[in-house]
Amino acid sequence: MQAALNIIGEDLTLVEQQFRKDLESDVPLIRKVGEYVLSSGGKRIRPALLLLAARLCSYDGDKAVPLASVVEFIHTATLLHDDVVDSATLRRGIASANSLWGNEASVLVGDFLFSKSFSLMVGVGSMDILRVLSDATTVIAEGEVMQLLCTGELDLTEEQYIGVVRSKTAVLMSAACESGAILGAVSPQQQQALADFGMDLGIAFQLMDDILDYVATEEEFGKSIGHDLEEGKITLPLIHTLKQCNDAERAVIAAVVDQDEMSLDEFRAVSGIVKQYGGIENTIGVARTYIARCKNHLAQFAPSPVREALLSLSEYVVTRSK
Ligand code: IPE
Ligand code: IPE
Ligand code: MG
Ligand code: MG
Repeated sequence: MQAALNIIGEDLTLVEQQFRKDLESDVPLIRKVGEYVLSSGGKRIRPALLLLAARLCSYDGDKAVPLASVVEFIHTATLLHDDVVDSATLRRGIASANSLWGNEASVLVGDFLFSKSFSLMVGVGSMDILRVLSDATTVIAEGEVMQLLCTGELDLTEEQYIGVVRSKTAVLMSAACESGAILGAVSPQQQQALADFGMDLGIAFQLMDDILDYVATEEEFGKSIGHDLEEGKITLPLIHTLKQCNDAERAVIAAVVDQDEMSLDEFRAVSGIVKQYGGIENTIGVARTYIARCKNHLAQFAPSPVREALLSLSEYVVTRSK
């Protein structure tokens, strides 16, 4: 992360200013909820990806900062909606917007952020970027619906699950990278390489998030631990475990997945089974294969400090604890 910050730190500060400005609305609740979420300290990975991709493609114009703000707007809108869908009470270490202002306000402010991001994209004026980012928002919505349909599905396969992850999480990171490439007007091969880099990085990112739901501490992760399991989400550590475990263990998992609430003892029982069958290590291994692919995609670019920064960002993804 530090290598990335050294290169794009100033631009990231400009992004913060930009999205504060873009949040302006005559409706006070929109500003209040929007400010609350945007000020709560997200990692800003998607803006960082866009800015670094643009730099890698030698772009030094004035469109990267507003577009980086747009991708964080889109991300924030998806979080507002996602926390309603997932009944989440904690986000970035503080009460989620839905738990403070209610589901209605969260959904509607999320809608505002989505709509506003489209106006901002149009303002930037690149039809190709508009296409990439608007396609991404459609696919995210599909991913979230796919996720909903997979809830409690103990027979979900790894391939099906990766499909959901690709849509709900990786597509936006891919679109952020591809937008930077479009700004830099590189060759179609290099544009595709950056889109693929973002996609593989995004898949690894979500797989690590799934692991952290089992092994992180709430203070560091900033989200409730065990919440995926409580919500009946069958993520890769559990898919791996379900393929190996015996009938009695499967029954323990099924009971917890089926019920609405989960006790600490129940969480410990299931996470114990997951750890016993190597569900965590296996998922880290899969995430690492996606990060290895990230490195190959960047081989399309000449060595440079910016390429190094993207490589270290991909390394950060598989070592992060928040
Ligand atoms: C959270 O994304 C949603 C997932 C894709 C897992 P981030 O972990 O990037 O969230 P913030 O913006 O840093 O809080
Ligand atoms: C991540 O959803 C993708 C989106 C928000 C669209 P998750 O539900 O897996 O992520 P967290 O755990 O709430 O951040
Ligand atoms: Mg969620
Ligand atoms: Mg979700």
